[in-house]
Amino acid sequence: MKIAITTASGQLGSAIIKSLVSEIGNENVIGIARTPSKAIHLNIEIRKGDYNSKADFDTALQGVDVVLLVSGMDAPDHRIGQHCNVINAAKEAGVRKIVYTSIIGKEGSSSFDAIVQSNRQTEKDIQESGLEWAIGRNGLYIEPDVEYIEQYQKDGKIANCASTGLCSYTTRAELAFAYTQMTLNDNRNGKIFNLAGGAISQQQLTNYLNQAFATHLFYEEMSQEDYLAFQQKANGEFLGTIIAGIYTKIRNGEFHIDSNFKEAAGRNHIAWDEYFRDLKS
Ligand SMILES: NC(=O)c1ccc[n+]([C@@H]2O[C@H](COP(=O)([O-])OP(=O)(O)OC[C@H]3O[C@@H](n4cnc5c(N)ncnc54)[C@H](OP(=O)(O)O)[C@@H]3O)[C@@H](O)[C@H]2O)c1
Repeated sequence: MKIAITTASGQLGSAIIKSLVSEIGNENVIGIARTPSKAIHLNIEIRKGDYNSKADFDTALQGVDVVLLVSGMDAPDHRIGQHCNVINAAKEAGVRKIVYTSIIGKEGSSSFDAIVQSNRQTEKDIQESGLEWAIGRNGLYIEPDVEYIEQYQKDGKIANCASTGLCSYTTRAELAFAYTQMTLNDNRNGKIFNLAGGAISQQQLTNYLNQAFATHLFYEEMSQEDYLAFQQKANGEFLGTIIAGIYTKIRNGEFHIDSNFKEAAGRNHIAWDEYFRDLKS
């Protein structure tokens, strides 16, 4: 069985590839990358695949049984068509099953909602493709907060507009494990799984970071208006608006979901106590 994974050069794509290789060997895993040279180190066959080019995927998906489609990074209206390039090429190439990495998020009205909706549209396109399918809705990655620790230390605090809202976070390593099981086991077919660990508040996240890094950060709640202005100044209007939208969704409880991680992965998601204890050691 040949399994192909898109965005092989990315952090999630490469994590899934490593996990799959450990289960079924590198001769059965194919990486598809927009920039193949960035994925050579994975020591598997790499094929070219830019989401803008259906022709790339017409070629890249030849002889593939299952394709794992990692959601793209482009503007929401653009990425729906990009994902369709992969879905349509998969149908024509005789791929049997498609697995898609979507995102959690209850419906809301924040500036991040267009991204959630574009993921929902791709879910629908996959369900209507006639192929076998399995879909994961990823919780928010916790790694960016961990990687941001030096900046948080400089600021002395974590400040945003999430307030006391709970957020269902996950890690790319946990997602890679779950997607490996969803890809290899057909009893996951036809299902949508929320893939996340326990939901935590920004205050809990701050406490965990303090434990892991021996810092003395505090959590400061900002108003939505102030946080939007701050983000737009720091990251520009487009990205700043999206980031502020994420924290508005957390504030509104729209990233707090019931996880089906165990159903997808066959084991529990790592507990945050354990994750941050491991980081400390
Ligand atoms: N759940 C969350 O918290 C969260 C947060 C951020 C993003 N996401 C979503 O999760 C996805 C994976 O995240 P990640 O951490 O792996 O991101 P990442 O490390 O930044 O990787 C992004 C990947 O997308 C590839 N890519 C970009 N445009 C492409 C195109 N037109 N055609 C084909 N490949 C393209 C990049 O290829 P190059 O190497 O050629 O640039 C790279 O491999 C993201 O794309 C995004 O949809 C989720």
